[in-house]
Amino acid sequence: MLEKTGRRWLRVIHIILVGFLMGGLIAIYTTSRLSGLTGEALYIANYSIYNLFNWVITLSFSGIVITGVIYSIFTHWGMTKHWWVIGKWTGVLVSFIIVWVWLGPAINGMVALSDAARESGSISTQYKEYSSRLGPSIMLSLAIFMTMIAITIFRPWGQRVQKYTFRRSTILAAIGSTLLLLLILGLSAYFDLESYRKMQIGTPDLSQIADGNYEGAVTYAGFTYIVEVNINEHTIKNLKVLENRNNPYASFAEGIMPRVIDSQSPNVDGITGATTTSKCLMKAIEAALEGAIK
Ligand code: HEM
Repeated sequence: MLEKTGRRWLRVIHIILVGFLMGGLIAIYTTSRLSGLTGEALYIANYSIYNLFNWVITLSFSGIVITGVIYSIFTHWGMTKHWWVIGKWTGVLVSFIIVWVWLGPAINGMVALSDAARESGSISTQYKEYSSRLGPSIMLSLAIFMTMIAITIFRPWGQRVQKYTFRRSTILAAIGSTLLLLLILGLSAYFDLESYRKMQIGTPDLSQIADGNYEGAVTYAGFTYIVEVNINEHTIKNLKVLENRNNPYASFAEGIMPRVIDSQSPNVDGITGATTTSKCLMKAIEAALEGAIK
């Protein structure tokens, strides 16, 4: 059990994280309301929102859950002893769904579409659909968080009659092994993704390639990406994606094609929010060009 000073520090950390979470959501909402932005400026606004989400929201939310678990295991409040604590866990679950199933994908779509539109200036109509999700999802999660603060202060509904009680060691073993498993799965997925994102892309010598169409393919995580490159007078004239993952975020990565034609090299900046697929498409183009040299 945590003694008094430990409990106080836990409270300090828990409250600071709540401040970051709610402040981060308000910052995302305010930035999304900037009007009249186009091209590079729109991308910068979305890039800020994307970073606020990936760092401030993700880390503060995880921290609140971790401090919540510590409260539940190491203080007299427990996890299911008091209805108000059960209420807080329910709120966390509902807000998790709103934030990660509704808000997160919308932010990812917005940054990817605004990145792809940086050069062209014209943005896909899908952007509007994504940006319209921000207001309701942020307002709803802020309302849930404010309710949770009120619940913590008023502590309504009393204590639950407990039919079954678990020993602390049993709860610790169950939560500890689940967290460890999630950590191992998360880290291995992260390093796998990173190895693809950091992959070096070369610039094949176009002067050695004869006119024609060349196909290049790459397979990653069970998906195959195939791109056809059209070469005319040692210049990349056209690119056609023959196979991509059937997913909106994967199709956003196709925004790299004008960049490849502009720079006459597959080694270009990927689309933010669709970095891994961008890299796979670049690698497929590189493979097509390398194959044409041989
Ligand atoms: C993950 C689930 C959560 C659990 C199990 C949990 C549990 C607790 C507990 C046991 C306390 C200490 C009460 C005391 O000793 O006085 C506390 C404090 C607090 N919690 Fe949470 N909490 C969770 C998530 C949240 C969330 C999401 C918010 C708001 C967004 C929040 C806001 C607060 C605030 C503001 C306090 C300080 C209240 C005070 O000092 O009187 N908590 N929480």
